[in-house]
Amino acid sequence: MKILVVYFSYSGCTEKVAQMIAKEVGADLEKITPVSPYTIDELRNIEHKILNKEHREIQALKSDLRDYDTIIIGTPVYWYTFAPPIRTFLMHNDLSEKRIRLFSTSAAGGGRTYRDMVEMLGNVPPSDYQDFYMGTPYADQVTQATLNNIRQRIHLWFKK
Ligand SMILES: Cc1cc2nc3c(=O)[nH]c(=O)nc-3n(C[C@H](O)[C@H](O)[C@H](O)COP(=O)(O)O)c2cc1C
Repeated sequence: MKILVVYFSYSGCTEKVAQMIAKEVGADLEKITPVSPYTIDELRNIEHKILNKEHREIQALKSDLRDYDTIIIGTPVYWYTFAPPIRTFLMHNDLSEKRIRLFSTSAAGGGRTYRDMVEMLGNVPPSDYQDFYMGTPYADQVTQATLNNIRQRIHLWFKK
């Protein structure tokens, strides 16, 4: 069974978790990159774009999704939901034949992220979604205790 972890990450937290998941399950990694990268100012003013469900043009994927049975999709939580580059990814790719798992990273919790992603993807059981609270938006400042806790949660999640 081949697994791909697809994620978007601006400040590195989701990337850190994506790397931990890929290591745990032996998956390949694919970072989703906007054609025009976000700036800090843009992110500070992104609320209305997210509420309007705007999407963000993304670069072509390096991976061929046909090679994978399972796709694990990771997003930062932006305004209680998933990030626009992930919306674009979901719009442009038919994942109906794939086993899907979802994760988010957040400062305070996943909000509607799971519900909103399921609305686009179709049913994904709640047990196949995890939100990881990072304690800081800066990946290099995530504490060792938080990382250990996340590693443990990832391990238990994929043991099921
Ligand atoms: C524009 C923006 C909106 C955010 N909205 C939320 C939110 O609604 N809830 C929350 O818990 N965290 C929110 N955060 C914090 C991020 O979800 C959190 O820092 C995440 O781990 C960042 O992931 P990244 O480092 O991979 O980019 C927001 C961050 C940004 C930049």
